[in-house]
Amino acid sequence: MKSAAVVLAVLLAYQCLAGRPPPRRQVPLVRTGHGGWSLSQASKPSNVNDRDMCKFCVDFAYDAIETIGEAILQGGLTQGCEKLCSIVANKTGSEAVEVACDTLCFLVGFDEFVHAFNKADVDPIYYCELLKQCPIVDNGDATITNLTVTPKSGPQGDFLIDMEYETKNGTGTGELLIHIDPADHGLQIGASFLNEPQDPGTYDAQITLHAVPDPDCVFPCQSFEPGVYNVTMHICNGQCMSQHPHSKIYDKKKTNFTITGPAPTDPPRL
Ligand SMILES: *[C@@H]1O[C@H](CO)[C@@H](O)[C@H](O)[C@H]1NC(C)=O
Ligand SMILES: *[C@@H]1O[C@H](CO)[C@@H](O)[C@H](O)[C@H]1NC(C)=O
Ligand SMILES: *[C@@H]1O[C@H](CO)[C@@H](O)[C@H](O)[C@H]1NC(C)=O
Ligand SMILES: *[C@@H]1O[C@H](CO)[C@@H](O)[C@H](O)[C@H]1NC(C)=O
Ligand SMILES: *[C@@H]1O[C@H](CO)[C@@H](O)[C@H](O)[C@H]1NC(C)=O
Repeated sequence: MKSAAVVLAVLLAYQCLAGRPPPRRQVPLVRTGHGGWSLSQASKPSNVNDRDMCKFCVDFAYDAIETIGEAILQGGLTQGCEKLCSIVANKTGSEAVEVACDTLCFLVGFDEFVHAFNKADVDPIYYCELLKQCPIVDNGDATITNLTVTPKSGPQGDFLIDMEYETKNGTGTGELLIHIDPADHGLQIGASFLNEPQDPGTYDAQITLHAVPDPDCVFPCQSFEPGVYNVTMHICNGQCMSQHPHSKIYDKKKTNFTITGPAPTDPPRL
């Protein structure tokens, strides 16, 4: 049955920014600070497997896809999963990444693991589709029906970006990509969330931006100067702006919000 992949639809998002490979055709995304973003989706994750291998794979690929390339160059090509993954672990400094690397590499086989890497370049979603960990749905669609920011204007603090969208055929493994052009035209703000295949229907995704300068930030830092912040929201099949197969921008929409000044400080206690 053609739609079997869609029936296994899951939708849960992950927060990813730190490990995102530099996108090729857009300004680099930077982290806004610890816990700068969060996403919640109202719709129920009805068909989530115990082990969501697509999310597992994409999370891994976001963290490691660049280092896999370096590891291959450093002799990891001839020596099998274990050696390759230990080099990747050394480079990323993460044991979790090593475990994920080993798990996937042994699951799909070393040759396939490396071959898919060469083919996918730095596109984590396509990579995981090649490894058959993420479903491919190519006749999908999505239209953003409402995009709002609350508050529309206010001091530094949390801004809730609410997106409603409708899909007639369902969606493929893709991403929600948000871009914010700050008032001072300085550091771009952005975040990407995995959006696993969804059945036809209407969906709501809420993204919270914690628009407060991070006191622990090491240069470069977002200062959240007062002014108008232009927001662009994308919903995509595959990675947004990817030139690989199974990739398409379903829709994009713009809105904006205004930061009026620093967060009010608590009134002094008497
Ligand atoms: C990983 O790094 C440690 C030291 O930081 C080194 O002893 C070890 O040989 C490295 N492993 C690989 C596979 O490069
Ligand atoms: C939905 O899928 C059908 C069958 O593949 C296709 O003809 C149609 O163009 C798709 N609709 C949209 C909105 O993509
Ligand atoms: C758009 O979303 C906002 C915030 O959730 C809501 O107040 C408004 O009614 C929605 N508009 C439409 C046309 O659905
Ligand atoms: C926001 O978009 C408007 C046009 O819609 C443009 O005039 C303005 O310069 C943009 N602001 C920033 C900070 O990019
Ligand atoms: C901000 O968005 C509103 C619509 O929500 C639009 O009317 C206005 O022109 C936009 N402002 C800028 C500076 O882009």
